[in-house]
Amino acid sequence: MGDQKSMSHEATLSLHAGAGPRSIGAPASSPPVMATSFFTHPDAVGFSANDLDEAAPHFYTRWSNPTLELLESRLAALDAGEAALSFASGMAAISALFLDRLTSGDHLVLSNVCYAGVAELAHDILPKHGIIVTPVDTSSLEAVAAAMRPNTKLVHIETPANPILRLADIAAIAAIAHAGGAELSVDATIATPLGTKPLVLGADYVVHSLTKYICGHGDALGGAVIGRQERLAVLRKDSLIHLGGSLSPFAAWLILRGMETLAPRMAMHEANARRVEVFLAAHLKVQSVFWPGSPRHPQHDLAVRQMRNFSGLLAFTAKGEGGALARQLAERLRVVSYAVSLGKTKSLLFYIPTDDILRSSFHLEGEGARSYRDWAADGVFRFSVGLEDPNDLIADLEQALG
Ligand SMILES: Cc1ncc(COP(=O)(O)O)c(C=O)c1O
Repeated sequence: MGDQKSMSHEATLSLHAGAGPRSIGAPASSPPVMATSFFTHPDAVGFSANDLDEAAPHFYTRWSNPTLELLESRLAALDAGEAALSFASGMAAISALFLDRLTSGDHLVLSNVCYAGVAELAHDILPKHGIIVTPVDTSSLEAVAAAMRPNTKLVHIETPANPILRLADIAAIAAIAHAGGAELSVDATIATPLGTKPLVLGADYVVHSLTKYICGHGDALGGAVIGRQERLAVLRKDSLIHLGGSLSPFAAWLILRGMETLAPRMAMHEANARRVEVFLAAHLKVQSVFWPGSPRHPQHDLAVRQMRNFSGLLAFTAKGEGGALARQLAERLRVVSYAVSLGKTKSLLFYIPTDDILRSSFHLEGEGARSYRDWAADGVFRFSVGLEDPNDLIADLEQALG
């Protein structure tokens, strides 16, 4: 597609960046969905993945496909990475990265608050493969440094972290990881490439659930890992060919279409979240609100340093019993949907009880649990502020909060 040298702004990159399919006749304004599981080749190429390299022609869609290739090159351009790999979901991307970079006896340092699926993968599955995991509060550089061991191979952080929107200092943690001989991967799903560019700040990998803001419309699952070409070539073979979590070209097409509006959507998500945060912070039934763009956020200075868009996800806690307010909101909200997920055009709100998530996912005790409760109290409302008119959102919250 476009000539990347003439594109310096993300709004342009998210529409045009990336190499399009090589021969489709006259250039179409939208990319084709290359709905094929394999490609015919008069010249035989090797049958095993071990005989294929990055220069091999499209051969089998689990290895590569023109629609996926376009998505991958656009993601790499937006995150200022050498290369990107797409996966069937965010979890497929993250599990592939962990299983590729970590082997029996290796040590992983992990945010002790992160998407529940990642916390559960690290707690329930990685140890079965002999991988040792230390969950730490990655908002504390001292805690990250203290967790490093000679066999630490990977530090994985999520910033802002789901669901409380606690931040981690990417550049400082990259320095700690590298000094200890480890790599750093950053889940930037909530920030998006418009908010942070972890690779520019020193990370080795950035991962996204494409299901969220990047697709933006809640109609496709997808995931990606972005980083150095040489590393991702290994990941393609080990994880896509052998573990097989590849993205469908149809989903890739939906994600590419969603990406075309990523920049204006993120600007609007941010502007609406700013309005909603001010409303919630002043509401009698609200105890605390966390949104990185607000001076009320305990790490606002770090947010200003490392984020250029504060995204549309905010978290709040109730003054009274959170569970009762959650039931009331689920019943009364009319514009906002009471639903999981985040990053969709429409507003979504969901309540996460603290006792439940500490038990089922985070397994935190002592200082870790105490710090989580400082943010989340007895439960946190995760509010993905959508693109509705902010006056309607505030009116809906007002009538539902009562
Ligand atoms: C921060 C974060 N990372 C990863 C994931 C997993 O993504 P997916 O649902 O696409 O597997 C999620 C899902 O909510 C998420 O919020």
